[in-house]
Order: sequence, then structure tokens, then C-alpha cells
Amino acid sequence: MKSFAVLAAATLAIASPIAKRNIGGLLLCTGANSTGTCDYSVYPLDTCVNITTPFSGNTNTFAPDGEAFACYPYGMPCGGICTSPEGCTLGAIDFDYEYKYNLSAVSWQGVASFRCFAKETTTVVEEVGKRSE
Ligand SMILES: *[C@@H]1O[C@H](CO)[C@@H](O)[C@H](O)[C@H]1NC(C)=O
Ligand SMILES: *[C@@H]1O[C@H](CO)[C@@H](O)[C@H](O)[C@H]1NC(C)=O
Ligand SMILES: *[C@@H]1O[C@H](CO)[C@@H](O)[C@H](O)[C@H]1NC(C)=O
Repeated sequence: MKSFAVLAAATLAIASPIAKRNIGGLLLCTGANSTGTCDYSVYPLDTCVNITTPFSGNTNTFAPDGEAFACYPYGMPCGGICTSPEGCTLGAIDFDYEYKYNLSAVSWQGVASFRCFAKETTTVVEEVGKRSE
């Protein structure tokens, strides 16, 4: 529950007109638990980014910062056509995602691309309300 309170605080903070935080900050590592080769970058939102060497096929840490955004990892490169009936993303990964330090645990170390997006403040606030019951 604590982490949801923190998330709500972060969301309120970025609701100010000029956000100085690095929304879109993401740590990638070849190893689980931030081991192996790592790269931390701030990515533009709503933009598809291909996973490239050395992370292709080997992205075990996929850890977004704690600001109000999340990322969809995709099984195909940007512009690729999704042929999976289940859809081609694992679902939104954010700071609270259980397996962000070990995508192998959910067989997603082969993520090929991703796209990050801002979370809707109202949605997050509603979630906080529900969870605190
Ligand atoms: C990775 O982190 C998890 C959770 O903190 C811990 O249980 C596990 O032992 C760690 N594994 C390694 C290899 O560091
Ligand atoms: C991503 O990779 C695919 C396949 O290699 C390529 O067609 C596409 O242009 C790349 N897109 C970006 C945004 O790098
Ligand atoms: C990551 O998950 C895989 C598959 O479940 C497991 O074999 C491995 O020990 C995990 N690594 C860490 C560091 O927790």
C-alpha cells in the first residue's frame, strides 16, 4: 500500500505545469537484478524504440523510473506486424511491476521493442482509492 501512496504523490507532483522530472527514464540490463551490461536512458514518450545489441534477446532488467509513466514491451521490432492472437505485448510495465528485475521469469527477455507512455492521473488516483480499502 505504501508504494501506491508514493505513486500518487509522484503523480500529483508531475501535474504541475512544468514537469522537471525525467519521465521516460528506463534502466535496461542484460542480467537480472541490474547486473551484466546496463544502460540507463530517458526515452521520449509515445515513441517506439527498438531494443538493440547487447540487449536484444537478453533483456533481463527492464526497470522504469518511479514517475507516472509505464512502458509496453513488444515481441516484434518497431513497425513489425503482430501475428500473435494474444496481442504482442506483455502489458504495461511500470515501477511497480513485479518482474522488472527479471523478465526471464515471465519469458520476456526477448523483448524486441518498447513504447513508454504517460499514465493518466485520474486512473492512478482511482486505483489508489480502490487499493486502500
Ligand atoms: C535478485 O533479487 C531478488 C529480489 O530482491 C532476490 O530474491 C534474489 O536473490 C536476487 N538474485 C540475485 C542473483 O541477485
Ligand atoms: C526497428 O527495427 C525494424 C526492424 O529492424 C526497422 O524496420 C525499424 O525501422 C526500426 N525502427 C526504429 C524506430 O528504430
Ligand atoms: C530469473 O528468472 C529465471 C526464470 O524463472 C530464474 O531461473 C532465475 O534464477 C531468476 N534470476 C534471478 C536473479 O532472480
